[in-house]
Amino acid sequence: MEPWEEHAIRRPHLPERVTVYEVGPRDGLQNEAETVPLQTRAEFVDALAEAGLPAIEVGSFVSPKAIPQLADTEELYRRIHPVSGVRYPALVPNLKGLERALAAGVREIAVFTAASETFNRRNINAGVDESIERFRPVVARAKEERVRVRGYVSTVFGCPYEGDVAPEAVREVVHKLLDLSIDEISLGDTIGVATPADVFDVVEVLYESGVTRGVLALHFHDTRGTALANVFAGLECGITTYDSSAGGLGGCPYAPGASGNLATEDLVYLLDGLGIQTGVTLARVVEASRRMAGTLGHRPPGRYLAAVWGANG
Ligand code: COA
Ligand code: ZN
Repeated sequence: MEPWEEHAIRRPHLPERVTVYEVGPRDGLQNEAETVPLQTRAEFVDALAEAGLPAIEVGSFVSPKAIPQLADTEELYRRIHPVSGVRYPALVPNLKGLERALAAGVREIAVFTAASETFNRRNINAGVDESIERFRPVVARAKEERVRVRGYVSTVFGCPYEGDVAPEAVREVVHKLLDLSIDEISLGDTIGVATPADVFDVVEVLYESGVTRGVLALHFHDTRGTALANVFAGLECGITTYDSSAGGLGGCPYAPGASGNLATEDLVYLLDGLGIQTGVTLARVVEASRRMAGTLGHRPPGRYLAAVWGANG
């Protein structure tokens, strides 16, 4: 007999506490056509910190030709008002980026690669193995400086150029990154194609190969409306770090059709409802998104935001 036939719902055992890793100021704004003024970006970061977000990816130290929207991240770091206990990581592609980050006082960086070859070439002009070789000295130097390192793996659940990505390909990349002593690995559904079945498949392959849940973070895009279902699957797997973007801003300019990071408001609403602690005050995230929307001149795609704005004009 199935549990629902006996009217006995078996509630899954979920984590008590989750870290919401905010990517709006970086992953969100890099995909906006408008370049947001530095001061507005700084106020956005401060508002998110005041909302209780424990980790906020402030910007990137990449080539300003590649991502002009995020140029001058040095100045952005000078303008923010760090809140004690909040982490302010930055995305870094190479040694030059790391040196810029260190000079700006950054204590946590993120490097990035992908599970598929073509996407990586378009994004950072290097294949997967080549990109990992490029990180090797970056991570080594960061470790010397006791800087925490996160590794992003894009296209974990599908590639805009190559289609399906095998969980075994993800496993290979994850182990190469862990061999470099990277502290945390964020698995990205860059084009928003994953369903919970895919989350279980990938996480299972990783667990079976010895990856521990504590090093994993999940980064979903809501392109097909499955992001929150995928978060729930991740929670059932015991994963306790989720990336999201205030208002659902952004995506990736190298991933055609990749609309919308999972919105922080939508994620926090789900976690609040499940009684999972985050330390984040939903209403204050809404305020931060509302102010950013005023600058961008359009309403970000987040669903919770649409619900509260629908009511309040
Ligand atoms: N910061 C600032 N400028 C940088 C830089 C950095 N971290 N790294 C490289 N550059 C500059 C170089 O000085 C060079 O400038 P020049 O043309 O004036 O001499 C130019 O960028 C090219 O440098 P090169 O080392 O040949 O890199 P590349 O052309 O192979 O590009 C990356 C590689 C990674 C630097 C570039 O593709 C990039 O910054 N991509 C970022 C992509 C991104 O942020 N994606 C978001 C995630 S979805
Ligand atoms: Zn994203």
